[in-house]
Amino acid sequence: MTRLTDSPDRYGLISRAFHWSMAALFAAQFVSAAAHWALPRENALRETLWTYHVDLGVTLLLLVLLRGVWGLWNLSKRATESGPMGYAAKAGHAGLYALMVIVPAIKIIGAAGGTRGFSYLGIQVFPARDVAIAWTKTISEWHGTLGWILAALVIGHIAAAVIWHHFIKRDDVLARMA
Ligand code: HEM
Ligand code: HEM
Repeated sequence: MTRLTDSPDRYGLISRAFHWSMAALFAAQFVSAAAHWALPRENALRETLWTYHVDLGVTLLLLVLLRGVWGLWNLSKRATESGPMGYAAKAGHAGLYALMVIVPAIKIIGAAGGTRGFSYLGIQVFPARDVAIAWTKTISEWHGTLGWILAALVIGHIAAAVIWHHFIKRDDVLARMA
């Protein structure tokens, strides 16, 4: 029977749904960021891919908050790996969660303090301010750098799951999430 909650031998349906749907959405988000970085300003593909960056970024922040609550609720039910690799996995997952929150949050805070206002899915969330708040702009300037650090961490995470666990150790860690 498919379980909704996690257990030591397998992540439950809800954790797996969060993980794989968000992995696909993060891939789309990094595609838009890569096009923004690599293509010239007037490029049509860059503009098309950029149309969803802000709304998808906010959606990802909302999803990660829900996922975090669900993860904490299920933490005691999940398998734990001991030893140095277990600590590395915990630190890696904590780093992923921290950056999944910080990267979109600082940009939203920057927009809240900015002069252009901010809308999500066409609904105005923050009105335009007459004068920008300096510190919100300062922290939001870390968005791109921290976004790329998150991308590097994701690549390390995928390598750990597929190369280390699946092909070298040949354990059931990948199967637990598959
Ligand atoms: C988890 C969600 C997000 C990720 C992973 C992400 C990732 C990135 C990355 C890697 C860049 C750098 C692109 C470059 O080098 O040209 C970038 C740029 C940008 N992002 Fe995001 N982003 C996210 C959410 C958001 C949100 C919520 C907003 C708006 C509130 C936003 C607005 C922007 C803007 C305006 C830029 C271009 C200017 C800059 O680099 O600061 N992003 N994003
Ligand atoms: C092809 C892509 C991916 C593969 C093969 C993969 C594989 C896995 C596996 C096997 C686990 C279980 C690890 C364990 O129990 O020790 C896991 C957990 C996790 N993954 Fe991924 N992953 C991928 C993409 C991503 C992406 C894009 C993110 C975030 C941006 C992510 C974030 C996480 C987090 C935070 C966990 C900890 C469990 C949780 O709270 O959901 N993964 N992943």
